[in-house]
Order: sequence, then structure tokens, then C-alpha cells
Amino acid sequence: MNKALPAKPILEVNDLDIVFTLRRNQKVRAVDRVSFSVREGETFGIIGESGSGKSTVGRCIVCMNPPSHGTVRHYGEDLFALPERELRRRRRAFQIVFQDPNAALDPRMTLVESVREPLDVAGIGTAKERESKALAMLERVAMAPELAWRYPHEISGGQKQRANIARALMLEPKLIVCDEVVAALDVSIQADMLNLFADLQREFNLTYVFISHDLRVVAHVSDRVAVMYFGKIVELGAAGEIMEAPLHPYTQALMSAEPEPVPVEQRNRKRIVLKGEIPSALNPPSGCRFHTRCPRAQSECMAREPEWRELTPGRFVACHFAEAPNSRSATDHRTGAPISAGHTHSHAGSMSTKAAPHGESFREEAT
Ligand SMILES: Nc1ncnc2c1ncn2[C@@H]1O[C@H](COP(=O)(O)OP(=O)(O)O)[C@@H](O)[C@H]1O
Ligand code: SF4
Ligand SMILES: [Mg+2]
Repeated sequence: MNKALPAKPILEVNDLDIVFTLRRNQKVRAVDRVSFSVREGETFGIIGESGSGKSTVGRCIVCMNPPSHGTVRHYGEDLFALPERELRRRRRAFQIVFQDPNAALDPRMTLVESVREPLDVAGIGTAKERESKALAMLERVAMAPELAWRYPHEISGGQKQRANIARALMLEPKLIVCDEVVAALDVSIQADMLNLFADLQREFNLTYVFISHDLRVVAHVSDRVAVMYFGKIVELGAAGEIMEAPLHPYTQALMSAEPEPVPVEQRNRKRIVLKGEIPSALNPPSGCRFHTRCPRAQSECMAREPEWRELTPGRFVACHFAEAPNSRSATDHRTGAPISAGHTHSHAGSMSTKAAPHGESFREEAT
């Protein structure tokens, strides 16, 4: 991570809605009034269960789908307002790597051809220069040189993902959205891959938006984390702080579901089991969207949507009853249990949480 961070964010997402229209004109609000900013050089994690809207946000960030409402600004500029040709040119600086290692690789092309292709399309350099650059990039992501001439079906998932990373780097992006990039890989190679991402970030001065349903992965790589539930961000803050003491009941439930190993002092913690699935996207719950599954829900939660509140500097939560970690605990009226700062363990295995980032104040817009 680059410590010398400029004041200006690389990405500002403001009041973003993304609505899909299905058959019979049914609307799915996949993303609902989401706001956040990402600073150059940081890794911004987005965590949440499947269907919470993470990928939809990720695709919008790299200009693959437009906002239905709200704005996405890259270096202060609304790229969606540009003419199509200019948008295509400018979006090269914002790339995405998907979960499926086959997603961006043409089965009829060798790896070096696939990696070279973005330069071919952009018409950058001579054919020979493009190939040399592709070979160098494959080497940089630790692909054995002889693999460059193979087809995707002739290599492993991890090797394919390395080729995808090389391809994403060819147009010298400033920001890469990493959407579940290690989810399809063997656990044994996930740590290697995450280390590769960290090395590349340093070398190319990259900014990442790191999307995952896996808390350990997000904790391992992120400076700050946004927790998404059903199209909304419900908690946002420094990764270390969220892992230490999640404030939103949904984040607490996600953390409590983490597998062992658990620090000794927390071995007796209560596991919070969420009832039911995420509700139907066609019929969102009233008030707080989490009330149908929240172990702490009260009647107010059904009636009124919680405000997006900054509880401590840089720490935002959308829950009527959440309180800052050091304030007097709010009491759950139903159970008598405190609602602030659910304590959980932070991570498993050899993975470690990134240090809490930049102390300077950094305001998020209301979600
Ligand atoms: N192209 C689309 N058309 C219709 N609905 C979509 C489309 N893409 C995503 N959705 C819906 O939007 C919601 C969020 O999906 P997604 O962003 O893929 O979630 P996540 O990445 O968190 O699993 C889901 O209800 C999904 O079914
Ligand atoms: S507002 Fe109510 S339902 Fe929503 S997270 Fe807080 S306690 Fe749970
Ligand atoms: Mg997804």
C-alpha cells in the first residue's frame, strides 16, 4: 500500500442505485443508495453474502454497467457522461478480474495471445512490442515461460488466474476490481495468489477494490472494508477495527460464522446463526432490510430505515442501536444483551489483517 496518499480519491461513488428490469417489467434494485470513496494506493474490501450486490457495484466501478441513479467519479470525473468512444478509452485505467479464471481467456487463443489482446485492440505499439510486453507480464506474474504458448485448457485454474491478472495489467490500470479472484482456487494456492496481488500493488502503484464473500480474504488484503447486505452498505471502516469489534449485527453474524482457529479468549463466544436466506430481491423488507434475519430486531426496525451514522471517525454503521466501541453499550430491549462492539476473532491460518490505515480524517457520504 502506498503510504503517501494524495488527498483526492481515485474513486467516488455517490448515492448509487443500480436497478435491473426483468421480464414483466419487474425491477430488482441490486444496489441501493450506496456511497463510498477509495483513495489511490489503498485496498478497499467489499464483503457480503452472495446476492448482496458486490459484483454489480464492481462492474459499475469499471464502467461495465451504468448507474441507474447517483454518480461514479474517477479522479473527480464522471466517465459515464463522456461520449462512448472516449468512455471506452478512459475506462482502460479501471480493470476487473473475475472469479472464473476462464472468463477473460479465449479458449482458442494461447495465453500470450490473450494477454496481448488488450494492446492489440487499443492499437498500442508494434506486434512484436506487444508480444514482448505480454511475455514480460506473464513472467512478472510468475508464469513459467513455456506456459505462455499453451491454451487455457492445458493449464491449471491458478495459472489461468495469473494470466488474467497479467492481461488486466497490460493497459497500465490505476485501479483493479478483484471480484472473488481466489474463490475458485484451491485453498493451498490462495495465499500465494494474495501475496502476488500485494506485490503487484507495490510495484505498479495499484488501487484495489477487493470483493469477496470470504472474510479471511478481505481481512488479509484490505485497508478498509465495506459490509454489504441486500444492496446496501451496512458498515464501513478500517479493516482492523471492523475485525476487532464489528458494530452491525450482520457483520457480527458474519464474523461469528468464521471457522477455527479462534483466539483462546474467544473460544466460548456465541455463534450467531442467521435465520433464512437473503430476502427476495423483488420484495425488499420494510425499514431495516436486515430485520427479517437480525437476532436483535425490534418493532422500530420494521418501521424505520436506520440512518447511516459515523460512530467514530471513519467508522460508519446503519443500525438504530449500534454504538461506538467505547461508549456505554446500548441494550437490546428484548434480550438485555449489549449491542455495541461484538467481539470476534479476526482471521485464520497464516493470514493477517492489514494494519489500520491512514489516520487522517476521510469522510464518507451518507448512504
Ligand atoms: N444482469 C442482471 N439482471 C438482473 N438481475 C441481476 C443482474 N445482475 C445481478 N442481478 C441481481 O442483483 C442482485 C445482486 O447480484 P450480485 O451483484 O451478483 O451479488 P453478489 O456479487 O454480491 O453475489 C442479485 O439479486 C442478482 O440476482
Ligand atoms: S436496525 Fe434493527 S434490524 Fe437493523 S441491524 Fe439494527 S437491530 Fe437489526
Ligand atoms: Mg458476485
